[in-house]
Amino acid sequence: VHRAIVLHATCVLVGLSQPGCRESNVYADGELEHNFDRPQWVDAENDVAPYEGTDADVIEAQANFVHGLDVQQKIIWRTCTPNDGVCHNRKEYPDLRTPTSFLAAFDAPCNIQPGEFSSVYDGCERPGDVVTFRGQGSEGAGIELAYLVRVAGEPPENDDESLQPDADTPGLHVYLAQPLKGDRDYFWGNMRLSRRAQTGETITEIEYARIDTLWYALDDGRHLYGIVYNYLADDIAALAAQGVIEGDANRNGIFGAKTGKNVAMLAPGRPEDSYLIARMRGQIHGENLPGSRMPLANQPLSVPEMLALFCLVEGFGAKDRESGLMARIDYNACSYAKNPGALNLLGEGVTWSSRVSKIFEFNCGGCHTGDEPAAGLELVQGDVYSGLLGASQQKPELRLIAPSDPKNSYLYLKLIGDASILGNPMPFNPLTGTGRLSEAELNDVLTWITNGAVEDQ
Ligand code: HEC
Repeated sequence: VHRAIVLHATCVLVGLSQPGCRESNVYADGELEHNFDRPQWVDAENDVAPYEGTDADVIEAQANFVHGLDVQQKIIWRTCTPNDGVCHNRKEYPDLRTPTSFLAAFDAPCNIQPGEFSSVYDGCERPGDVVTFRGQGSEGAGIELAYLVRVAGEPPENDDESLQPDADTPGLHVYLAQPLKGDRDYFWGNMRLSRRAQTGETITEIEYARIDTLWYALDDGRHLYGIVYNYLADDIAALAAQGVIEGDANRNGIFGAKTGKNVAMLAPGRPEDSYLIARMRGQIHGENLPGSRMPLANQPLSVPEMLALFCLVEGFGAKDRESGLMARIDYNACSYAKNPGALNLLGEGVTWSSRVSKIFEFNCGGCHTGDEPAAGLELVQGDVYSGLLGASQQKPELRLIAPSDPKNSYLYLKLIGDASILGNPMPFNPLTGTGRLSEAELNDVLTWITNGAVEDQ
């Protein structure tokens, strides 16, 4: 009987010093659940001296965002809410719509959104599940799973040494952190997947799946290809639905958990190391984050809002937990209150002159410049900016760019291939008839329009 998913009670208790056990941080089981409970609200002692300086942004932040609950309700909630929200029902962002789940995001590992591997940040990768094989002469210690790929399609017709599978062959592709040692290129074997969880000092290893099939060792044993016979298909689908933890989820060769640079969703004391904040800025420590920026659906946070969030995270401590986010934010002691302007999200460079004009020059210049620019639209020479604020030729009732209103900006609708456009989505690719900017570029254009489509700052 073939059952790929067996939840075994064979929990093997192993110590950290055991060979094959890594000494990096093993998170306790990690997803943040949506939690409707309200925290216990307790009156916190008002032992915080108010800011008495003159910076208008700090004064505004102090007046509007007194404590963490204000930050959650007035900033985070707004960011998460419209269009069902960017932080709703997604694995990438925890659901932050309640104070309790916002509180739980402090010190929680950042999550990984399944499916879009290229948008995973290394710092969010967890230690991968452990793969062991039985039946191949190499019964040794488990090897960390790098990632797993299911290539859809009928199983190959021949299943013997004449089969020469490659990365595209339909079946299950298991990529490993280290090569599986063994002397055979193909073998009937039993692959086992287990997960490590840490409770205090104890690491528990739980086997949760077994897959019996014919395996081929590729790439010196770093890549195992298993045939998914029809009787196995449901089990493999169930495995995918249940979710494996991949040590190199973004497939870039770096195992994020091993680098020791894991970031928390919100890191108390260290706003710059907090994934949620990094996603709003599109970068962390000057390095661009893969994936799209947040918030997507809304006006980016204002400077006082950013300041409130930074000061809350910087000063976050026991009093915030105990009071259920009712402790006063200490703007006076907050280091970011010295120069709140530096927190301006526009300071990240999404203006017409610094960024958007270059995106257009690079991607659109081939057709939209010169004596006869396509559709009469000049995107490179002269006063391009003023032209963009004018009407579209194809849909004269819309402007090409309507500041703060992406949904009514015809140029943006062309970029996302909205159903309402005439002609082709842009940038037009004559070879394929389609074309699309990268997610990062699209997001910069969106951020720019949402934020008022400023020319310069
Ligand atoms: C290979 C040539 C080509 C490239 C590259 C190209 N376009 Fe176009 N564009 C056209 C053509 C042709 C039209 C008119 C037909 C259509 O819309 O499909 C057009 C029409 C448009 C329109 C409609 C103009 C109006 O006034 O209604 C917009 C907006 C536009 N393009 C924006 C862009 C942007 C922004 C880029 C780059 C990201 C880009 N295009 C890249 C060829 C191109």
